[in-house]
Amino acid sequence: KIYPIILSGGSGTRLWPLSRAALPKQLISVVGERTMLQETVARVSDWPEIMPPLFVCGNDHRFMVAEQMRAIGVKPLAIVLEPTGKNTAPAVAAAAHLLRQRDPDAVMLVLAADHVITNVPAFHEAVSRAAEAVAGGALATFGILPSAPETGYGYIRRGEAVAGVSSAYVVDKFVEKPDLATAEHFLADGGYSWNSGMFLFKAADFLDELQAYRPDIADPVAQAVAKGYEDLDFCRLDPASFEATPSESIDYAVMEKTRRAVVVLADIGWSDVGSWSALWAVQESDENGNVQRGDVHLQDVTNTLVRAESRLVSALGVDDLIIVETDDAVLVAHKDKVQDVKKVVDQLKAQG
Ligand code: GDD
Ligand code: MG
Repeated sequence: KIYPIILSGGSGTRLWPLSRAALPKQLISVVGERTMLQETVARVSDWPEIMPPLFVCGNDHRFMVAEQMRAIGVKPLAIVLEPTGKNTAPAVAAAAHLLRQRDPDAVMLVLAADHVITNVPAFHEAVSRAAEAVAGGALATFGILPSAPETGYGYIRRGEAVAGVSSAYVVDKFVEKPDLATAEHFLADGGYSWNSGMFLFKAADFLDELQAYRPDIADPVAQAVAKGYEDLDFCRLDPASFEATPSESIDYAVMEKTRRAVVVLADIGWSDVGSWSALWAVQESDENGNVQRGDVHLQDVTNTLVRAESRLVSALGVDDLIIVETDDAVLVAHKDKVQDVKKVVDQLKAQG
C-alpha cells in the first residue's frame, strides 16, 4: 500500500504578496479553482492501492488544512503538527515512524503541497515504476529533465539503469542546489535531471538510512513521536524532543548520502511554482503573451502577468511586468527580477 505524505510547511515567499507566512501558496488557489493542497490530494485520490493522505504541517495551519480537506470530502489518515519547522528530514521522519507503527511494509509517497503537475496519468505511471524499484529496497526520487540551469533545485546524475524498471537509474551523484556555473555544466552534460522533491520509499528503509547517516535527527524525532499524543483530529509531536533535532532537508540528510537512491525519470509537466515566472510558465498566455486573472483591464500590454485579487487593475502601454494586487499590498516588478521578490520580503520583514 502507498501512503501519500504531504509536506505543507513552507512559506513560499517568492510568490509575495499573494503568498505569505500566514497564508502560504499551498493553502491558496494559484492556478485553477482549488488550492494547491487540494490539487495535490486530488492527484493521489481514486487510485488503486493508495491510502488516505497524511499531512505534516505547522501548528498555525492546522485548521486550514483540516478545513480544506473537509471541503473536498477527504478524510486524512492523520494531520501531524510540528511544534516548529525543522525542514523536511524531521518532517518525513516523523511521518515514517507513524506509518511504520501502523503498517510495517508501508510505502510512502512524499509530496510537496505546492507543486503543479499537469500530466497526472504520467505521474501515476511514474509512481508505479518507482514502486517496482522500491520493492527491492530502493529510495526513489522523481527526476525531471532540466530545461534551464536553475540553481534552486537539486541535480541528479544518472548511473546504471535499474534492471526491469523502465527509465529508472541508480543515482550516481546527487548535488543539492549547485551554483550557476555548475548548473550550466550539468545541463550541457545531459546526464542530469532535476530532483523534483517527491520521493517514494518504504518507511522502514528511509528510517534505516536516516539512522545510519543522521542519528542526530533520527533519535530525537523517534522520541518526539513516542512522546507525542493525539489531540482531537491532530497528531502532536513532543515539542521538547522535536526541538532537539537539527533543521535539515531530506536531500542533504539522506538522499545525497544513501547508496540505495534511484532516480525515476518523470515527464509529467512538473513545476514547483517557486517564483512568479515559474507560475507564469504553467499558465496559458493570450495572443499578446499576457496572463491575467481577476478583474484586469489591459491596453497595449505584452508579456505581462497581472493578477487582481480585490480591485480592478488596469495597465496601459507596458511590457514584461509582473503586477500582483492584493488587499494590503501591490507588487510591480520586471519579469527578469522575480527571483529578488524574496529579498524584498526579507527587507520588509526587517523593517517590521
Ligand atoms: N511540514 C513541513 N515542515 N514541510 C516543509 C518544511 C517543514 O519544516 N520545510 C519545507 N517543507 C515543505 C515545503 O512546503 C515544500 O512543499 C517542500 O517541503 C520542499 O521544501 P522547500 O523548502 O520548498 O525545498 P526547496 O524548494 O528548497 O528544495 C527541494 O525541492 C526542489 C524542487 O522543488 C529539494 O528537494 C530540491 O532538491 C528540489 O529540486
Ligand atoms: Mg520549493
